Amino acid sequence: MLVEAVAIGLLVYQLFFYFATRKQLKLVASHFVGPKPHPLWGNLGEFFQKDIPGLFETVVGFHERYGPDIFTWSLFNMTMINVTSAENVEKVIMAKHAQKSFIYDFLKPWLGEGLLISNGEKWFQRRRIITPTFHFKVLEHFVTVFDKETNVMVENLKKHVDGKEFDMYDYITLMALDSICETSMGTAVNAQKDPTNKYVQSVKRMSVLILLQTVSMLSGFPFLYSLIHPNGWKQRKVTKALHRFTDSIIKSRRKTLENEKLRQIDSNRDEDNVNSKKKMTFLDLLLNVHVEGKPLSDLDIREEVDTFMFEGHDTTTSGIAFVVYQLALNQPIQERIYDEIVSILGKNSKSYVLTYQDLQEFRYLEAVIKESMRLFPPVPFIGRKLMDDLEMNGTTIKAGQDFLIPIYVVHRNPKVYPDPERFDPDRFSETAESKRGPYDYIPFSAGSRNCIGQRYALLEMKTTLIKLISNYKILPGESLGKLRVKTDLVLRPDKGIPVKIIARA
Ligand code: HEM
Repeated sequence: MLVEAVAIGLLVYQLFFYFATRKQLKLVASHFVGPKPHPLWGNLGEFFQKDIPGLFETVVGFHERYGPDIFTWSLFNMTMINVTSAENVEKVIMAKHAQKSFIYDFLKPWLGEGLLISNGEKWFQRRRIITPTFHFKVLEHFVTVFDKETNVMVENLKKHVDGKEFDMYDYITLMALDSICETSMGTAVNAQKDPTNKYVQSVKRMSVLILLQTVSMLSGFPFLYSLIHPNGWKQRKVTKALHRFTDSIIKSRRKTLENEKLRQIDSNRDEDNVNSKKKMTFLDLLLNVHVEGKPLSDLDIREEVDTFMFEGHDTTTSGIAFVVYQLALNQPIQERIYDEIVSILGKNSKSYVLTYQDLQEFRYLEAVIKESMRLFPPVPFIGRKLMDDLEMNGTTIKAGQDFLIPIYVVHRNPKVYPDPERFDPDRFSETAESKRGPYDYIPFSAGSRNCIGQRYALLEMKTTLIKLISNYKILPGESLGKLRVKTDLVLRPDKGIPVKIIARA
């Protein structure tokens, strides 16, 4: 009798809570526009029977239909507010107490609570520890790695000279993987020379599996997904393989450093200190650091290294690939970059060994990269759960609400970017007059959770593009056609980047 009474009490409480939440949500929704939700399955109908790129197009389409700030309601009381107006983007990005939204949960089995996903004190401490890895003295050394790895890519591309169209995306992925492994772990996986390498295969497989999870009907229930979906089982297997590899690298590097007696080095590096360690990798830094007198555990280190492996190669690959796409379609812009290369590096640009200082001079190339990341931001949206109540659109939104910032849509605001679909690098020239405010262009996000690797990314992107264009003229392949994109947390072309190349004299 007592058990039944408790069960009924709990049920009544749950129902009361459900309807109270729903009432509050309806009130908030009345201050926003957006697609009308079904009482039970919200806006899921809008996504039904869409192919993978179609899912992304649907979200972008909401904004075309309803405007910058919209309310969506998917599945029961699970809601998302999408904001793209500069005013509301600022409120969300700069909120004092925020966590990452549930959309990052897909990454947790692989990345744990690394810098991208962690919150609060853990995030603050890690960000402080990791920031010196991107000191320019360290980046100077990384440029030599990018230069070396891009040379391998250029060599591998030779077989396509004067040939049929081929997909450039895969070549860029392997180059970026080699670069991130060497700069973050100090380990050469030789992805470009041996694409069958198990770790390389596992990272690539993982990207595909994460994409499949985000578009699955079970995407809102990660635990259930991993338990009953065949791809969830595959993901567990791949995650294990990835962790095994990172663990073994950490163990062996820890041993080497112990032998070399390097572990005394303090993480708070001053200028000279950095100078003496410019060949230090991200992993070395983590192995040497002490927090409250204790070194980081192998598990702590693994989640940070894995985070860099994910954030540090898929994003730059996407960034470079979309520039290649634009240059294939816009030959005069490609030639202007070639002229800039020759004017800075001279006629021997093909074999020139690039330095950090050289890369600072490529102003036009930088404008091209920026404009390409405007139209195709490698991270096309970010998500937050705000932990304080927030005033927005004349209503109070309760703490705990999830927000999505579709950067892809923010970057297409016609008031800031007239004729927004047109590719025009001059929008970013030093003399251009622009209405761009700090929240109108955010490929690397903004505020304290902005991208820690943005300078690294720009250096890698510039190095690759300089070497590529010095050596080859890139032409559009027959099937380049109208590009469709798909996304998990990284934006990718749906069918690669089909191009042709001819050798430059
Ligand atoms: C073109 C390339 C890149 C783009 C467009 C990009 C973009 C972003 C964006 C938008 C965020 C914010 C994510 C959020 O708020 O949820 C972010 C965070 C982050 N990025 Fe990047 N990223 C790039 C390359 C890199 C590289 C090369 C690395 C490392 C080597 C890196 C490491 C990180 C990390 C660790 C975070 C989390 C920072 C924190 O929360 O403190 N990124 N990135």
